[in-house]
Amino acid sequence: MERIKTGITGLDNIIEGGLPKESITLVSGPPGGGKSIFCFQFLYEGVKNGEKCLFLTLDKKVDGILTQAKELGFDFQPSIEKNLVKFLFLNINKKLIYETMTNEILSGEYDRIVLDSITPLSEMPIYLRNIETNTPNEVLGSEELTPDGNLPIRRLHLRYIMNALETTKATSIVTSELPVGSSYLSRDGISEFLADAVVTLNLDPTMDRRKLSVMKMRNTKHTLKPQDIIIEHDGIKFI
Ligand SMILES: Nc1ncnc2c1ncn2[C@@H]1O[C@H](COP(=O)(O)OP(=O)(O)OP(=O)(O)O)[C@@H](O)[C@H]1O
Ligand SMILES: [Mg+2]
Repeated sequence: MERIKTGITGLDNIIEGGLPKESITLVSGPPGGGKSIFCFQFLYEGVKNGEKCLFLTLDKKVDGILTQAKELGFDFQPSIEKNLVKFLFLNINKKLIYETMTNEILSGEYDRIVLDSITPLSEMPIYLRNIETNTPNEVLGSEELTPDGNLPIRRLHLRYIMNALETTKATSIVTSELPVGSSYLSRDGISEFLADAVVTLNLDPTMDRRKLSVMKMRNTKHTLKPQDIIIEHDGIKFI
């Protein structure tokens, strides 16, 4: 099986050299856990090798992301100018966000795709285009969410995204925010079942420690033991 390097050497060493090519990995963790930094490292590794990369964001504007990345030593500006990497902000208030997103995912012939993060999407209604009137129709509204965690609609949202990612040749990362101390692997409690791999980033404030765990990875023999990591100027490192 072909392996795609994550850009985090310690991680690649414990997963047989990298993520399985064309797989979808869920990276989940609490705020400040290092999810966005993980994504920067993954895409930076790609552009270093001349691969085509896409960074999709739902909650932060592109300028802020580029500044955050540059401060950590990941300067994407030259690669943006060479058309190697594209940063795209998707406004979740726009009804046809899925269309925009899937069009970009499917048309771009990307090698690596990041969606940071999936959380806002799993909390909005789903719209599909009405073919006759060419207007967005709300097919599953927020009022139809079930009070007990609205599983059906969330599953549908995630299916949409996962399906689009599965259709491409890209190796993908999707991040999910986790409340501190949560026993789920993702905020929605579903993505971990749909993804091919799950990596969690955890914080132990009392001990002032960070841990990375590989909870699941298809076709890969890996340890489940949490690994000690640090975040430094140039990103996530194993210690
Ligand atoms: N230069 C640096 N040196 C050391 N640690 C840093 C540095 N830059 C950022 N950090 C650490 O990384 C954290 C931010 O990581 P990141 O933005 O990837 O988290 P996140 O999981 O994406 O959070 P959120 O859910 O809020 O988006 C900071 O809170 C800080 O602890
Ligand atoms: Mg982030």
